[in-house]
Amino acid sequence: MKVLITGGAGYIGSTICSALLDHGHTPVILDSLVTGQEVFTRGRIFYQGDIADQGLVKKIFTDHPDIFATIHCAALIVVPESVTKPYEYYHENVVKSMDFFYQLATLGYPRLVFSSSAAIYDVVPGFMVTEGSPLNPNSPYSRTKYMMEMVLKDFCHAYDLQGIALRYFNPIGADPQMRTGLHIKDPSHILGRLVAVARGEAPEFHITGTDWPTRDGTGIRDYIHVWDLALAHIQAVEQFVAVIAADASPERPYSVINLGTGQGITVREMVSAFETVLGHEISKNEKPARPGDVAGAYANADKALDLLGWTAEKPIETGIADALRWGEVRDQVLGW
Ligand SMILES: NC(=O)c1ccc[n+]([C@@H]2O[C@H](COP(=O)([O-])OP(=O)(O)OC[C@H]3O[C@@H](n4cnc5c(N)ncnc54)[C@H](O)[C@@H]3O)[C@@H](O)[C@H]2O)c1
Repeated sequence: MKVLITGGAGYIGSTICSALLDHGHTPVILDSLVTGQEVFTRGRIFYQGDIADQGLVKKIFTDHPDIFATIHCAALIVVPESVTKPYEYYHENVVKSMDFFYQLATLGYPRLVFSSSAAIYDVVPGFMVTEGSPLNPNSPYSRTKYMMEMVLKDFCHAYDLQGIALRYFNPIGADPQMRTGLHIKDPSHILGRLVAVARGEAPEFHITGTDWPTRDGTGIRDYIHVWDLALAHIQAVEQFVAVIAADASPERPYSVINLGTGQGITVREMVSAFETVLGHEISKNEKPARPGDVAGAYANADKALDLLGWTAEKPIETGIADALRWGEVRDQVLGW
């Protein structure tokens, strides 16, 4: 199967491309490289450009009329930056995606898988969320994801589009073959910061927020290995027609699926697992919660099992070990 993948030079998109290739499929990458890495596209079909470049998008489908589905990963994704630059985030993630979706419908390429986020959920008692749980996106970034789900749902009703929105929880790790991984110099998320401390690139790890109503007071998340996440996309594409038939109404061919492990892990538990994998303790300190932080959520992953026949398989220790291995090869792979 040939699959167009926007953002295929990014962390998750490039991993999905590797998984597609490993399963005998052909990814066609469209990426502007605004944050993505050219090196992640080497040896792969790659068009450098913006999703808003309608001439280029048309050319891609003229060159590859046999594209079966599109996976739309392209986006700006840094939450604090979205607070200071909401125009850029709404423009890149909403305005451009909306025109891109409309162009897919117009060109007659209706099957679309959308990278959504668990960041759109409200905090619920017990912290486990199903696809029907209340939504309450709390940053401009997460609101762009929420808005694009709404746009896609309405477009699927009105136009010739069929959409599957995949709500990712917290991806960790790297491609097990170390072809690609996280490419941000100064990552703000937990595992990136732990790896930085372990590698001596940061002095100590800050446990931010210790009085949340969780079992040990620290925030709770659902850490999913990025390879497991990528494999879910293989299922979503291969079983696209069946998923839509099983889960969506003919009037609105649109489906939403959580991609998580189904297991909530607290920050303290993550730090402890990290130290176990590393083989020694790291320097750490407790700090107050940062503005905008939330207690967190973890996935009810039943729907992914039912519809995609997919379940996350890699334990958190594997994600940690792969993140550490990637930390060792990253500079060489990226030419930093
Ligand atoms: N990383 C996470 O924790 C996480 C969690 C939930 C959802 N997601 C979603 O997954 C997707 C991929 O995230 P990622 O972590 O791989 O981010 P990333 O920054 O590594 O990748 C995004 C890619 O999109 C490209 N891009 C951005 N705007 C573009 C445009 N207008 N035209 C063409 N290319 C463009 C960038 O160059 C980059 O290669 C995003 O949609 C993100 O919202 C990520």
